[in-house]
Amino acid sequence: FLQRSFYFRPGIIPARRNMWAESKGLIDVQPVRGTRDFGPEDYRLRQWLFDEFEAVSRLFGFEQFETPVLESEELFVRKAGEEITQQLYNFEDKGGRRVALRPELTPSLARLVLAQGGKLPLPAKWFSIGQCWRYERTTRGRRREHFQWNMDIIGVSGIPAEAELLAAIVLFLERVKLSSEDIVIKVSSRKVLQAILERYSVPEESVGPVSVVVDKMEKIPLEKVEEELSALGLSAEASAGIIEATRVGSLAELEALLGAGNEAVLELQQLFSLAQGYGYADYLQLDTSCVRGLAYYTGVVFEGRDRAGQLRAIFGGGRYDRLLSTFGGEQRPCAGFGFGDCVIVELLRDKGLLPAPAHEVDDLVVVMDESLREQAAGIAQKLRVAGRRVDLVLESKKMKWVFKQAERCGAKRLVLVAPDEWEQGLVRVKDQATREEHNVPVGELIDK
Ligand code: HAM
Repeated sequence: FLQRSFYFRPGIIPARRNMWAESKGLIDVQPVRGTRDFGPEDYRLRQWLFDEFEAVSRLFGFEQFETPVLESEELFVRKAGEEITQQLYNFEDKGGRRVALRPELTPSLARLVLAQGGKLPLPAKWFSIGQCWRYERTTRGRRREHFQWNMDIIGVSGIPAEAELLAAIVLFLERVKLSSEDIVIKVSSRKVLQAILERYSVPEESVGPVSVVVDKMEKIPLEKVEEELSALGLSAEASAGIIEATRVGSLAELEALLGAGNEAVLELQQLFSLAQGYGYADYLQLDTSCVRGLAYYTGVVFEGRDRAGQLRAIFGGGRYDRLLSTFGGEQRPCAGFGFGDCVIVELLRDKGLLPAPAHEVDDLVVVMDESLREQAAGIAQKLRVAGRRVDLVLESKKMKWVFKQAERCGAKRLVLVAPDEWEQGLVRVKDQATREEHNVPVGELIDK
């Protein structure tokens, strides 16, 4: 009844009740619905993924930060009707404070930047990998907790920031052996909607809430979208203008709609030419229906999808120049992205690209006679001090078990501490790859 691996069999949602377990008086051994355990096998895979996230961030000169999973609820209270705020895990703590498990990392990043006041040297390039909580309907690739890799640039107002962030994402994708044949990055700008709304004299503050509604276009019928836009005070003409703008398929068409000097057009043109320079233009696709569901974006927005269109968004981000000022701080240009750990694993698994990192030690040290246990412990410790990973067998075991264990822990060497050899200052060493065995002086064990 144990669910072995969520990473390897992520489509499986555990049964709600286990009658057998209940009849035995056993506690429910499943993790809470929508959450995962990471047994060693899954943990190794997760570590591999996080190591890639981190390696790419460092290749781009980003610094790592971390904030608590538990935050003040007020950090996430926004009035734009976003799904994310409706899915908040929030409660009152024992001191009567309203707190929430963070659904994303961006507000915490903003808090951290604000806390530094004017002291933070800009631009700042920061990354983080952290667990986020959202009370979502669990589907393939969507859970109630997930880890997100975020990279954000604070203090750069121009498109080179967005282009650099996308370059990092593409480098990650290519390091895990994906290509532009597998992934499309849909790109647009909130400034497209802003330009349309200006035409109908709708105030700029409406761009966020309007975007939140337009983002639902894939999920809800058009009439419902129109209804929600009208509830935001948009005229039928303004709604029609917005919907028309989301159907634009190329930069040339966008230029025709908004005019050559329009800011959205100029910025997107610059982004596409920078993409040429970086060499990732193949990944990009202008898609004005990509507006993103978070209200705080103000400029370029982007979202990564599998080309086959079978999975939910793999990553998403954009420019959010006003988030800090909505928290009462000084306005600072910011851009960034969030990249989850669930959908990417699904995609890599579907494509047979998911590695299965093995448990690995350098030496398995075995004592052949309990009278030598102290000596074996000393050897194991010396090897560890020298930086070798050592699994010491802690009980008397038959050789058959020892050989099996050597395979199970991926030992490169088997180090046998046995009375006859020990008397001569030797230990028996078996090279697991060549199967060769030698007696080695104890003092030379570390170099061999
Ligand atoms: P988001 O689009 O809400 O953006 O989430 C970013 C990514 O997190 C998604 O593309 C997906 O990979 C992953 N994700 C989100 N929700 C779930 C879930 N329930 N289960 C599994 N994975 C999920 C943000 O959160 C922004 N704060 C990103 C950002 C950073 N923008 C600027 N900086």
